[in-house]
Amino acid sequence: MAARTPFVAGNWKMNLLLADAVALAEGLMPLVASSAGVEIAVCPTYTTLHAVGKALAGSNIQLGAQNAYVKESGAYTGEISPRMLMDVGCSWTIIGHSERRHILGEDDAFLNEKTRFALASGLNVMFCIGELLEERKSGAMNAVLERQLTRGLDGLDAELARVVVAYEPVWAIGTGETATPDQAEEAHVFVRSVIASMFGEAAAAAIRIQYGGSVKPDNAAELISRENVDGFLVGGAALKADSFAAIVNACAQ
Ligand code: PGA
Repeated sequence: MAARTPFVAGNWKMNLLLADAVALAEGLMPLVASSAGVEIAVCPTYTTLHAVGKALAGSNIQLGAQNAYVKESGAYTGEISPRMLMDVGCSWTIIGHSERRHILGEDDAFLNEKTRFALASGLNVMFCIGELLEERKSGAMNAVLERQLTRGLDGLDAELARVVVAYEPVWAIGTGETATPDQAEEAHVFVRSVIASMFGEAAAAAIRIQYGGSVKPDNAAELISRENVDGFLVGGAALKADSFAAIVNACAQ
């Protein structure tokens, strides 16, 4: 099995005004400056990306966006292109977060287009998937994850090396309810099997699969100890420097 470097990313969602966003970045840097063997990113709002990126310059924390549009420029009021994100220092974008799927109505085909365009533009992608509680209860979980992966990552080839999959069960996001390590591992094993059937065994062994959904300092160590959990996408606990740093450090080697 390929050794996979854990990747911990903070999704700040629609939180923090400019001064607080910069202060969070500045507070975080010293706490993770010597965290070895773990890749780190934060994903602030569009309005704070540039300032946070400047604050993080030269640090071991990468900058990511929470979304990116499917055109480079033009008459697309309110949208932001991958090139604009790279211009302010982003190397990552989240695509397909459940809040965009379920609140903003983004479907598999649109998310595939976004993923392909972001990758073609040079961004790396954290591609989010996850089942609703009713889907888990009705036994449809694997079918949902398979559909989200096969449609969302359709048409990718070598660019898959710049994709991280984030498994985020919707019932665990922002609820305080975390998947157990067994539930996370089981889902990640299934995700890896779908990647193997789409792209082959080597790609499946290499791809990193983050877990997301109420990750906290006190559950991170147990989750990351599972073989197929390769890091985290963290929401609420990423808004405090000490809790995000503790999650990063639970993954440091
Ligand atoms: P949470 O959010 O950690 O607040 O549950 C995770 C996410 O939505 O990425």
